[in-house]
Amino acid sequence: MGAWNEGHREDPKPCREQDRGLFEITGRDGRARLGRLHTSHGILETPALLPVINPNIRTIEPREMWDRYGIGALITNSYIIWKHEELKEKATKDGVHALLNFPGMVMTDSGTFQSYIYGDVEVGVEEIVNFQRSIGVDVATMLDVFSRPDMTYDQVDACVMETLQRAEVSVNAAGNTMLNGPIQGGLFRALRSKSAQGMADYDFAIHPIGGIVPVMEQHRYKDYAKIMLATLPYLPSQRPVHMFGCGHPMLFPMSIALGADLFDSAAYALFARDGRLLTPWGTERIESMVDWPMLMPCVASMTPGQVKEMSKEDRTELLARYNLEITLNELNRCKQAIRDGTLWRLVERRSHQHPALREAFLWLSTRPQQAMMKLKMLDDLILNDRDAGRERGAEAGAFEEGWNWLVNAQETPRKGGEPWGGEDTFVRPQIVAARRQLLDHWKPSNIQGRGDDSVLIMHGSPGPWRERLSDIMVRLTHHAPGLEVLILTPVGLIPYSLEDLNPFAHIDGPDWLWRRRPNLPWIRRELTRLGLSERKIVTVDMLGDGIQGRCMTALHNAGVLDGDDDKTASENPIDKERREDAKLKVYRRLVSDKLSVLLNVDHQAAIELLREATFVVNRQGRVKNAITPKGEHIASPRLGDGGLSLTDAGAVALHSLRILNPPAGFETTVPDSTLGAGPAWVVVDDDAEPFVRQGRNVFHGFVVAVDPWIRPAQTCLIVNERGDLIGHGLANSTADEFQGFKKGIAVKTRGGIAQ
Ligand code: GUN
Repeated sequence: MGAWNEGHREDPKPCREQDRGLFEITGRDGRARLGRLHTSHGILETPALLPVINPNIRTIEPREMWDRYGIGALITNSYIIWKHEELKEKATKDGVHALLNFPGMVMTDSGTFQSYIYGDVEVGVEEIVNFQRSIGVDVATMLDVFSRPDMTYDQVDACVMETLQRAEVSVNAAGNTMLNGPIQGGLFRALRSKSAQGMADYDFAIHPIGGIVPVMEQHRYKDYAKIMLATLPYLPSQRPVHMFGCGHPMLFPMSIALGADLFDSAAYALFARDGRLLTPWGTERIESMVDWPMLMPCVASMTPGQVKEMSKEDRTELLARYNLEITLNELNRCKQAIRDGTLWRLVERRSHQHPALREAFLWLSTRPQQAMMKLKMLDDLILNDRDAGRERGAEAGAFEEGWNWLVNAQETPRKGGEPWGGEDTFVRPQIVAARRQLLDHWKPSNIQGRGDDSVLIMHGSPGPWRERLSDIMVRLTHHAPGLEVLILTPVGLIPYSLEDLNPFAHIDGPDWLWRRRPNLPWIRRELTRLGLSERKIVTVDMLGDGIQGRCMTALHNAGVLDGDDDKTASENPIDKERREDAKLKVYRRLVSDKLSVLLNVDHQAAIELLREATFVVNRQGRVKNAITPKGEHIASPRLGDGGLSLTDAGAVALHSLRILNPPAGFETTVPDSTLGAGPAWVVVDDDAEPFVRQGRNVFHGFVVAVDPWIRPAQTCLIVNERGDLIGHGLANSTADEFQGFKKGIAVKTRGGIAQ
C-alpha cells in the first residue's frame, strides 16, 4: 500500500507470467507475515484490505481508492454483476476492471453470501466460476456453502462436504484464473480442520475463512480466534488467508498475529450510512460526538458538528472516507509492528479495548496451560469415563497443536527490550518459544564435586549481570565446580552462562518486579524442568554492595563451601594460574551452553568441541570469539540478542558432528530423537549450489528437503543433495513453509563454503 496521494497514481505493472498466483513472505513476526501476492494487475502487498465495491452503489470511486488511498485490490460481487443485465453486458464486453474503473487486483465473490442472506441463488457452481473468469477477474471465488454458527454439527458437516464436493469442478472451471477456496465449519473445530485439510488438496490460490460474519456481528471473538487456530495450521502455508467479511480494524492485530493476510471491508461504507465510526477500539456514533476519536486527513478542517449538518449523501461519503482512513491506519500500524517484531504486544494492548476481544485474547494465551493440564488428566479420565476422556483429550490436543503452530514460528532470541505487561508477558508466544528452547535444550554440567547437590539463585535486580557476577563465577567455578548458578528473571530462571540471552536478559519493568520475594514453589518447578530437581537452593540478593562476600557467606552457611574454602571475598584468593583456568571454564560453558540451547548441538558434543578452545575477550570481559586449538575461529556470541553467530569454520565443525541421515523431504513433526542433532539442514538442488557457495541467499524454489526442527531466525546448515556442506545461514521459515513456498528467500546465507 502506497502513501496518501492526492493526484494520479501510475497503473500497476503485471507480475512476471511465471509468478502469477504465487505468494512470498518478505517479513514476519511469528505467524504474522508481510507478503507479496503476484497477479496480472500488480503485486499486492499484504496484509491488505480489499474494500467491498457494490457495483450499483459506489460510495467512493474505485479509481480514487487506487489513486488517493493506495488501495491495491478490491472485492466486488460477481453474482450481482451476473444478475444485472447492464452490468453483465459491460463486464463481459470490457472486463471487470473497466466496469469498476480500477487498475489493481480485482477479486470477486460468488453469491454464497447472498444465498446466506436470501436463502438461495439461481446460479450454477460451474457457471459462476466460468462467468468470473470470462470477465477477467484476478481472483474468483467458488460457490461455497455458508455454515452458520447456530447450525448443528450434522448441518455444518453437510455444508463442509458439499463445499468440498464442488471444489474440483470449480478449480477446473477456473483454469488459470486464481481461485478462492473458502473454509467452512461453523463453530466446530473438527469440521474447520476437516474443511481446511480437504480444501488444501485442490489447487486454490487463496483460502478465505468463511461463515464468520455472524460470529463477528455477535462479537463472539473468542469463537473467531478458535476458528482461526482450528483452521490455519491445516492450510498450505504458501496460500494467503483471507478473513471473509472482516473489515473492522479492531480485529486486525489479533487476526494478523494468527496468520491472516487479507481482509475485506463493506463496514467502512455500511457503518457510514448510519453515522457509525470505526476505531481500533470499537465503533462510535457521530450523534453525540464533539471531537473526533482520531483526527483523520478527510476531516482535518471539520468538526463532527459540521459533518452532522451535511446532506445524508455527503455525510455518508465523508464518513466512509473517515472509516476507510482509520481502517488503513490500523492496518499500517500492524504492518509496522510486524517489521518491529512487536505485533503480539499490539494484540495485547488492543485486547484491553473490548471485553470480547479480551476474552478471546485470554482464551488464546491462557489456554495452553489448561490444555496441557487436561492432557495430563487424560489417563484418569479415560479410566473413569472413556468417552469424556477421549473427547476432552482430543480438544486439548487440537488446541495444543494450534498453539504449537503459533509458538514454533516465533523468532527467538530477538533484539531490544521486552516491556513487562503484567501476567500477559509470560504467555507471549515469543517468550513461550524462548522458554521452551531453554528448557528443552539446556542441561546441567553434572560435574561431580563440591556444590553438585546445590544451586545458587541470584535474584533481586535487573541485568546486565555480567560485571557484577563474573568474578564470583570464576571463584565458584574453582571452589564449587559442581554448583549451578542461575539468575531469577520475571520470565523464568536462566543459567549464568546465558546471562545476556534475550528475552530473559531484556525484561523492561518496574523495580518491584525484580524485588519480589523469590517464590520457592515456582522456582522448584523451574528447577525440575531444568533437570535440577533434587538440589538444595541457596538464594542471594544481587542488590547492594559486597555481593561476592554475601555469596560466599550464604554458600558457607548452607554447607556448600566449608571452612577451608573461600569464605569471604578477601580471604584465601586463588592463585593466578588457577584463576585463569577457572575463567577458561566459565567461557567454555558460556559458548557450549549457547551451542546446545540455540543450535541444538548435543550437550556432550558441545563440551568436546570446546575442550581445548581459547577465547578472545574484550575489555569488558565479554567473550568475542571462540577459537579451536587449530586456531580456527568457530563462533561469536552476539551483542544485541545474546545469540551465537557461527563462522564458516564453525559450520564445518558442526556439519561433521551430524549423526542423523540427511532429511529426505519436508516432514513437519519433530521426533524427540532429534534433540541434540545439531542445527537443521537445508538441502538445495544442484542449480543453487554454486550461488550458495558464493554466499548468496537460498530461494524457496531450490530447496528439496529440510529438517523438521528448522525455525525462522535460527542458524541452519546448507547442504547439497549429497549432504556436502555448501553454506550456513539463518532460516526464514518453518518446515511447513519450506514445504509450500515457491518464491522468496528461504535462508539468509551468512557464509558460503567454497569447494
Ligand atoms: N462473504 C462473507 N462470508 C462468506 C462466505 O462464507 N463465503 C463466501 N463465498 N463469501 C462470504
